[in-house]
Amino acid sequence: MRYSIKAGSPEKISADCVIVVVWAKGVLSPEASAIDAAGKKCISWITHAGDLTGKLGETQVIHHPDGVQAKRVLLVGGGEKKKLTAKNTVKILKNSLEAATKLSAANLHFAIGSLEVSDRDGLWLAARLAQEAEDLTYRYNTTKSKKGETPATRSVSLAPATGARRLSVESSLKQGQCIGRAINRAKQLGNLPGNICTPSFLAKEAKELGEKHGSITTRVLNEKQMARLGMNSLLSVSAGSVQEAKLIVMQHKGAKADSKPYVLVGKGITFDTGGISLKPGAAMDEMKFDMCGAASVIATMACVAELKLAINVVGIVAAAENMPGSKATKPGDIVTSMAGKTIEILNTDAEGRLVLCDALSYAERFKPRNLIDIATLTGAAVATFGNFATALLSNNDNLAKSLLDCSEQSLDLAWQLPLWDEYQSLINSNFADIANIGGPRAGTITAACFLSRFTEKQKWAHLDIAGSAWNSGTQKGATGRPVGLLVEFLRRQKA
Ligand code: BES
Ligand code: MN
Ligand code: ZN
Repeated sequence: MRYSIKAGSPEKISADCVIVVVWAKGVLSPEASAIDAAGKKCISWITHAGDLTGKLGETQVIHHPDGVQAKRVLLVGGGEKKKLTAKNTVKILKNSLEAATKLSAANLHFAIGSLEVSDRDGLWLAARLAQEAEDLTYRYNTTKSKKGETPATRSVSLAPATGARRLSVESSLKQGQCIGRAINRAKQLGNLPGNICTPSFLAKEAKELGEKHGSITTRVLNEKQMARLGMNSLLSVSAGSVQEAKLIVMQHKGAKADSKPYVLVGKGITFDTGGISLKPGAAMDEMKFDMCGAASVIATMACVAELKLAINVVGIVAAAENMPGSKATKPGDIVTSMAGKTIEILNTDAEGRLVLCDALSYAERFKPRNLIDIATLTGAAVATFGNFATALLSNNDNLAKSLLDCSEQSLDLAWQLPLWDEYQSLINSNFADIANIGGPRAGTITAACFLSRFTEKQKWAHLDIAGSAWNSGTQKGATGRPVGLLVEFLRRQKA
């Protein structure tokens, strides 16, 4: 998609479709008024007839009104003008883009320079427009023999707000596009089936990032190298699979070598059958999405490189396939993790924490400024938050607060759960230092408790994206979350 700034009165813009806002009770925005005046009341006829009230998100197309240059005008309801929050603005953008991409309009012009978003600055709108345009035009086609319809949209232009500096708007459009593309990259990796997207495939993807971006170097550890490091917990997960586990390490150097890095660790279970503690069959296909944490780390690293962030960032992916088999780990088996702690594996379906604990121990060698893991870790997170929020747990209040701020800003929502000591006893074991499950209650918290035993020395946060990483049902597909949140967080950091 191409993005540009196009100044000028909306009725004089030549585009396949011009988008203007109509506020609640049919109040026309200045841009809508200009079109209405030039176009012989083409909008007033609609609002006066009561066919468009300006309710938030409703849309209607008018075809080449007399006196207006553009082939189409798309009206989009803005709701109450005074209640134009960032959330509502995103709804306006999403709905108008959705309506516009259903048309065969190659270039869209957003005549929305007069919009004043109550809780954001002027440049935010430009960035978010580009982000949403990328997001909405993503289609999964890779494994279809007939490539589905791709939206006709090729370019999006934006009328700048009065007084906005052209260069800043342009760079905001670029940033938003970069984030949108990263979100799509995460979606694409998530959507690929388990027989294509294996641990080796993720490793290849990460290596390609290293080849494409000068700032990124990628190293991949195989099972033999992991065994030498004592990563028996991680290796216990891949034991039943013919697919070799990989520990993928991507390093972005944007600051001096001695500047401590921000470290991200992603759960990359490319398929989770549950192992010997086999999952029931219903919707098991969705366990191809069990690598969405890894996908978000890879995509965020790409975005960090494209945005040339002047900080050091390390992205680590613990990639494995969880399968039953004669060599698979059995319930009751005990392994010694890289940190030296012994783990009783009471349920082989609680495998995410088993790969993450060794990856988190490995992360220590980078002396992280802070350490964030991203994982589709527990069904309990889905039960708690549904699809809306990512669960956040942390041993550091400042880090948690900062991540929550970034979730608000990016509208990639997260909500904190407690990591109180009281919960720790639930993962006691009679035969090892720790058990890998904590019983049926407080599953998201006990999973985080398990991880906290391996991050005691770090400023650490855990994002459980089991609910937010993908949608089920007819809209089945990866969401690309929490790339928006992670990029926002990293953008705010200094070397
Ligand atoms: N990948 C799953 C978590 C999951 C389940 C995400 C359903 C999204 C939807 C994870 O590996 C898992 O199986 N967790 C178990 C842990 C339990 C055995 C303690 C769970 O949540 O049921
Ligand atoms: Mn599992
Ligand atoms: Zn899993």
